[in-house]
This record gives sequence, structure tokens and C-alpha cells, in this order.
Amino acid sequence: MPVSSLPAVLPGAGPTDYARYMRTDALLSLQRGPTEWVHPDELLFQIVHQASELWLKLCGSLLSRAFTHLGVGQPGAAELQLRRASETLRLTTDQLHILRSLPPAHFAVIRTALGTGSGFESPGWRLLRAATTELDIAFSRLLSEHRIAPADVYRGQPSDPLYRLAEALVEVDERIALWRTEHYSVATRVIGQGVLGTRHTPIDSLPALIAHRRFPTLWEARKDLFAAPADGACPRSVRP
Ligand code: HEM
Repeated sequence: MPVSSLPAVLPGAGPTDYARYMRTDALLSLQRGPTEWVHPDELLFQIVHQASELWLKLCGSLLSRAFTHLGVGQPGAAELQLRRASETLRLTTDQLHILRSLPPAHFAVIRTALGTGSGFESPGWRLLRAATTELDIAFSRLLSEHRIAPADVYRGQPSDPLYRLAEALVEVDERIALWRTEHYSVATRVIGQGVLGTRHTPIDSLPALIAHRRFPTLWEARKDLFAAPADGACPRSVRP
């Protein structure tokens, strides 16, 4: 018997259990259709944004699981969720690439349908900002409980649980910066430099955000390791 003819047993809308579990009817009705389009490339533009929101939703959930693990003293489990969160950010970044194929003239038409809508209103990015702030506080609390200064984490072994956790946080931070770098690059390719966004924000204000850090302490800690010792001797911290 072909799999497609098996009767659906799950509750919910849709002809198959796949449709019911994945909620494909609802999902695939979320894009504007040909009768609403101001330009056919709207589908590309909308799907990249919607897919980004889904990955960022997952990212937020993974960061919040990491936060919960930190609260109960499980740095290894937190690290695992942070690594997965980084992977969602990598995927979100990779999919921006296809927008380079969006001709500026087509986007000029699409933009007329966006109202005042702007990436600054992205719920996924809001979630990411809130979740990383929470994690930053939780990590600092964990270090205080262990009476460890951030730079001392990096004086330890790279295999230490706290070291690994710190690096997983740094990776999330770096992935955010890489997304912003790619986003700025793609956005200027489509709309050029010196242009105002839908919120009248100059596009040229975006590069400053690339240097913004969600876990500043861990970047400062790196600097501490390179601070010159007063007597000119090798810093105690530099061990093979
Ligand atoms: C053709 C592609 C795109 C263009 C031309 C573009 C353009 C812009 C511009 C001009 C801004 C500045 C704020 C404004 O006035 O709107 C901005 C911000 C932003 N956009 Fe996009 N964007 C594009 C794709 C995307 C995609 C796919 C996402 C995914 C969610 C996104 C998310 C954001 C976010 C989060 C910001 C806030 C700045 C930040 O946190 O770095 N954008 N974008």
C-alpha cells in the first residue's frame, strides 16, 4: 500500500498526518499570493524573512534552554544548546545569500508594499537580544559563584567546562556579528549606500552594530590576557 494512502490518525487540519503534525496548510498559507503581489519576487523576499524568523525562534528557545541549564549548574548541557543556537545563526546567515539575486528595481517595487515595516521590528531578533542579555547575567553569576574572574577562565585549559561554555557564548556572539556583516553586505548590494531604510534609518548606521557585543565581558577578558605585566616579565597566565 503506498504510504500516501494511509489514513490520517492525528487530530487537526490537513489530509495527511504529515500535514496535520507539520501544520503545512497553515504554514503554506502564510505567504502573500500572486493576486496580492506587487512583484513576483515578493515570494523570495518574504520566504527568506519568514524562514529567518523560524530559525531565530528556534535559536531563542535553545538559548533559553541554555539559560535554564546554567541556573541549575549544568555548564555542559548549556554548552550543547549554545552550539546548536550558533548553528541556527549560521543557517540564518547563509540564507541571506540568495537575496543578492534580487534586482534593485524589483526591490524598489516590493518596498512599496512594506509600509513602515523594518528589520528592527523582527520578533526573532528581539528574542535573541532578550535571551543573550539573560545569559550574560547568568554567566557572570556563575563566575561569581565559582569566584573566578573572566580572564581566569581563559587561563585554564580549553577543555575545562567553564572555558568551553565561555567559548560557546563567544561563538553565539560572533555568529550575530557575522549575520550583521552579511546582512549589511546584502542590503547595500540591493539598495546601495547612503540610502534611508523604511524606518528612515540610514543604512550606513548598520556597520556600527557589527562591533556590538552581547557578551562584552568575554571579549574584555581576552584583552586582559594581553595586558603588559608591570615588570616586563612573561605574564603568569601564558602557559603552554
Ligand atoms: C533585500 C534584503 C534586505 C534589505 C535591503 C534590508 C535592509 C535593511 C535596512 C535598510 C535596515 C535599517 C533599518 C530600516 O530602516 O529598516 C535593516 C535592518 C535590519 N534588518 Fe534588514 N534588509 C534585508 C533583509 C533582511 C532579512 C532577510 C532579515 C531577517 C530577519 C533582516 C533583518 C533586519 C534586522 C534584524 C535589522 C536591524 C539591524 C540589526 O539588528 O543589525 N533584514 N535592514
